[in-house]
Amino acid sequence: MKNGSEVRVRPARNVRGSVQLPGDKSISHRYAMLAGIAEGPSRLENYSTGADCASTLGCMRSLGVQWEKKDGGVVEVQGSGLSLNAPVAPLDCGNSGSTMRMLSGIVAGQQFMSEMVGDESLSRRPMKRVIAPLTAMGAQIASQDGNPPLRITGGALRAIDYKMPVASAQVKSCLLFAGLFADGETTIEEPLRTRDHGEVALRSFGAQLETRSSGPGSIVRIRGGQRLKGIEARVPGDLSSAAFFLCAAALFPGSQLTIPSLLMNPTRARLLDILMQMGLRISVTQLEQIQGEMVGSLQVEGAGLKGATIAAGDSAALIDEIPVLAAIAPYTEQGIEVRDAKELRVKESDRIASMATNLRLMGAQVEEREDGLKIPGGQKLRGAELDSFGDHRIAMAFAVAALRAEGDTLIRGAESAAISYPAFFETLEALTER
Ligand code: S3P
Repeated sequence: MKNGSEVRVRPARNVRGSVQLPGDKSISHRYAMLAGIAEGPSRLENYSTGADCASTLGCMRSLGVQWEKKDGGVVEVQGSGLSLNAPVAPLDCGNSGSTMRMLSGIVAGQQFMSEMVGDESLSRRPMKRVIAPLTAMGAQIASQDGNPPLRITGGALRAIDYKMPVASAQVKSCLLFAGLFADGETTIEEPLRTRDHGEVALRSFGAQLETRSSGPGSIVRIRGGQRLKGIEARVPGDLSSAAFFLCAAALFPGSQLTIPSLLMNPTRARLLDILMQMGLRISVTQLEQIQGEMVGSLQVEGAGLKGATIAAGDSAALIDEIPVLAAIAPYTEQGIEVRDAKELRVKESDRIASMATNLRLMGAQVEEREDGLKIPGGQKLRGAELDSFGDHRIAMAFAVAALRAEGDTLIRGAESAAISYPAFFETLEALTER
């Protein structure tokens, strides 16, 4: 889809069928980065098709890592080991906060200067959360008052004990990666438990780390100087992309959906509990572990749709799924309230404002708050002309809301879905019955 694309979404009667999701975005980023600094080859099957994960591969190539795409979503990477090559041009992270934040931990450990740049949206996103701890480890980082571009002069890093002020899996992974290059043992404490793909992936690539829970959060320790070894892995289906179809199914009591080989990592699967509490029937079969990640097949049936409150640890655990939960909230019986989710204001768009604007354009009542939203249930929405605000998850969330509205909905800037899921609109169309 070209920039400025519009997609028309018609109301539906049902969601039915089977959908195999492209590889999880969070895991794909981490695998590509770790495969690049590992020794020997890695073979990554079902690598994410999203533009963000292509940005990570592009940056790795600029750092001298060789890789090739093969048929069937396979990426073969030749690991360079811990020392990479100095890039001749800025590392282009595109729209991807994950690329910039996590890769900064790797380039901070290199004996050269790297410049990291991003698009307009990424250039507005806060980077102090990685700048402060990496600076404490000995990297020199220049930024635009805490925003990109970043100029990182790496070198010998020293281990630190760091208590993260914001719960962020990107920051945790960044510091674990930097910890590999540091002298001594790095300890990272997170205030709330966030996705642990960095820890799981590091172990798969042969690193040793210690993890333990600490209240609602956790503590991870990693020793510097450990060498990684390439892996062969299949990336499980992306649960945050599946969220759109799960919520679409939840809108209609007659829906029936099957999703094979989906990521089931407990730090990501909170959405399934919430949707089940709301009334969606979900059964999981063929549970297995692949490279330490839980994977399963889902059978889903639509039923009633009660409301939910998402707060505290749930807001961190569901951070990428809140847009689509908010988009179906008006159709629930009791509505949905989201609290403690201020982080949504600094995502690809200010997601609290984007959600409130689009819900109101569809005729919904919404209470917008600094750290969340309150959306009453039992509302009828009408089709409207909406904007994605250049944000993939907003474009996809409102395509789902449009399925139960009265009349068609036009989504402008629909091409942004390609950031995480280029085939989203075609797949949604194939799964809906009218
Ligand atoms: C991600 C962590 C989350 C999430 C993002 C992917 C990751 O960001 O919103 O889409 O892969 O670690 P934060 O770490 O900023 O919460």
